[in-house]
Amino acid sequence: MDLKICGEKLFNLIREESARESIPSVSPSTGKFLEMLACLTGARNIVEVGCANGYATGYLVNAAVRNNGRVTAFEKDARRFEMISQNMAPFIANGVLEVISGDAVERLKESAASFSAVDFLFIDAMKRQYREILESFLPFLKKGAVVFSDDIYFQGVLEPEKTLGRHKSIVEGLRRYLDYLKELEMKGAVRNYFFGYEDGMSVTQIL
Ligand SMILES: C[S@@+](CC[C@H](N)C(=O)[O-])C[C@H]1O[C@@H](n2cnc3c(N)ncnc32)[C@H](O)[C@@H]1O
Repeated sequence: MDLKICGEKLFNLIREESARESIPSVSPSTGKFLEMLACLTGARNIVEVGCANGYATGYLVNAAVRNNGRVTAFEKDARRFEMISQNMAPFIANGVLEVISGDAVERLKESAASFSAVDFLFIDAMKRQYREILESFLPFLKKGAVVFSDDIYFQGVLEPEKTLGRHKSIVEGLRRYLDYLKELEMKGAVRNYFFGYEDGMSVTQIL
């Protein structure tokens, strides 16, 4: 496939794969919202942590193409890494996308010296790790950069303790992350916007 941007046909193929493989990809409207945000903020160096088989990545790639930029996407699951490598092959071949296999925090530590300043960070990884991920990427985020975090109100985050059940540790991780975002805002380091749409999302601007 020789493609300039990711179009409906490829999005549909990846979405069908996500359904078959039980991969929790973002919805089409969240994907379009991501693309719009990255595009309108002029983001050129875009990073995704937790790209799975590449559904959301396609939207970020489209923003990067329009802004003459590039996307670096991290995926720690070997099988999903193979899937995105196949699904996004044309964009990897033309240099718009680099997919890095492994845990994003670990890989960032190893390659910190060669990692350049980031304009747009999309976090959609293990919920317990959100805080650690933002802490690791914070030194690489430019002033004005945007951080989009998905699923911040995942099942139970806004509910009383006793109803949490099996999602307890995920919810605790997300609460730690929300506290961290608010702490950074209190210090004047960021400005946060929280949305209750779907499983919740936050948009954080680095000040
Ligand atoms: C919700 S899925 C991502 C869906 C994808 N963003 C989309 O919307 O199409 C989360 C993915 O993050 C990966 N992941 C979790 N923690 C990670 C980490 N620390 N580094 C890299 N990948 C991670 C998981 O293996 C999983 O495939």
